[in-house]
Amino acid sequence: MRSTLLVLGMFLLASFGISYAKPSATQDKPGSTEAKMTPEDVAKKNPIPPAAEGLAEARKLFGYNCAMCHGKEGDGKGDLAADMKLQLNDWRDASSIEKMTDGELFWIISNGKGKMLGEGDRTSEKVRWNFVNLVRSFGKKGARDKPKTENPQN
Ligand code: HEC
Repeated sequence: MRSTLLVLGMFLLASFGISYAKPSATQDKPGSTEAKMTPEDVAKKNPIPPAAEGLAEARKLFGYNCAMCHGKEGDGKGDLAADMKLQLNDWRDASSIEKMTDGELFWIISNGKGKMLGEGDRTSEKVRWNFVNLVRSFGKKGARDKPKTENPQN
């Protein structure tokens, strides 16, 4: 009698364990991202207007975290991109990402795409929107050499 109870108890414990283990097991699988871009993500408007200060901050971080793939000037020819044989857009040509909304770019920067890891919460939302502004700025004529300023003395 005792052993039957024991077996039953073990069975219950085991099935309990399995049903609880499952969700985390799928989440931990490397390379599988649960996140999916929704129409709301695509439609999201950029709340941060491009400004010299935000762009400068984003550019600094871009140099550390992004340029090895996307290139310092956004040409998509970073060393790591070459090593990994990635085909990346040349953002100096604005039409390369013209069809993508700011919301889409923001989502990709946050969540990653293909071989690119997302920023997640490593950088604030504000910085990630400024990354979007920076990425767009590579395709604007003159923006690279001379950031727009309100100051007439420049
Ligand atoms: C390991 C290389 C790598 C790094 C580092 C990287 N990316 Fe990417 N990025 C990619 C790849 C690959 C894609 C997807 C291209 C595709 O659609 O096939 C991509 C796509 C994008 C896109 C979507 C637009 C497009 O041209 O496809 C944006 C925006 C972007 N990256 C921004 C960033 C920013 C900002 C950083 C730094 C915070 C960054 N990336 C770091 C490889 C990288």
